Amino acid sequence: MKEYFRHLNKINEQHPFIKKMKESAINNNIPIINDEGLSLIFQLIKITRANYFLEIGTAIAYTAINVALYDENIIVDTIERDKKMYLNALENIKQLSLNDRINIYNHDALDLDIKVLNKKYDIIFIDAAKAQYQKFFEKYESLLSDRGLFVCDNLLFHGLVESDEEIKSRSLRSLVNKIRNFNSWLANNKKYQTVFLNIGDGMAVSIKK
Ligand SMILES: C[S@@+](CC[C@H](N)C(=O)[O-])C[C@H]1O[C@@H](n2cnc3c(N)ncnc32)[C@H](O)[C@@H]1O
Repeated sequence: MKEYFRHLNKINEQHPFIKKMKESAINNNIPIINDEGLSLIFQLIKITRANYFLEIGTAIAYTAINVALYDENIIVDTIERDKKMYLNALENIKQLSLNDRINIYNHDALDLDIKVLNKKYDIIFIDAAKAQYQKFFEKYESLLSDRGLFVCDNLLFHGLVESDEEIKSRSLRSLVNKIRNFNSWLANNKKYQTVFLNIGDGMAVSIKK
């Protein structure tokens, strides 16, 4: 059934440059959002009539560029700490002349002074270091607009988060436990109403109560 829906959620018409970016990400083992997750984000942009989108974790700007091409009025701010990824993303953004609508910050999102962003976001998409999700959430929640949404990706972490099987590697076990703790924290967070979705690698959408 899941495969069947995944097929229906496939994004059929994509810009040739986007297709090239996707291929390059796959060939170079760069994790990017999948079609299902992107379909969800597109839908949320429409529902919220989003004008401002913040992404934590740019990688090669695959999501940032998709979002900017999806809605020509949207402004995307995106934060990437890795210099190489940042330069790659910057080049991709330039290739499509999207510099005026995608602002990329080469910074650790946990150190960035949020005053530089200076706006309220309709959607804040968290897709960076998985062990730090609660810190990202708490740091950036003051920038969420009143009717805004947090979207978090990879909450199932390749199925490991829901599995009962013993994970042998200590560091992996620790990471999986951190994601589990974040999921419980989010589910029990009284300020937000959250839905966890079996989409992509496990996504959550949270709205202020
Ligand atoms: C899964 S990739 C992002 C994919 C991207 N959102 C997309 O769908 O196209 C995660 C990225 O987050 C970056 N990252 C991890 N922790 C970060 C942090 N604390 N601040 C900024 N970037 C971070 C990593 O360097 C990596 O490029």
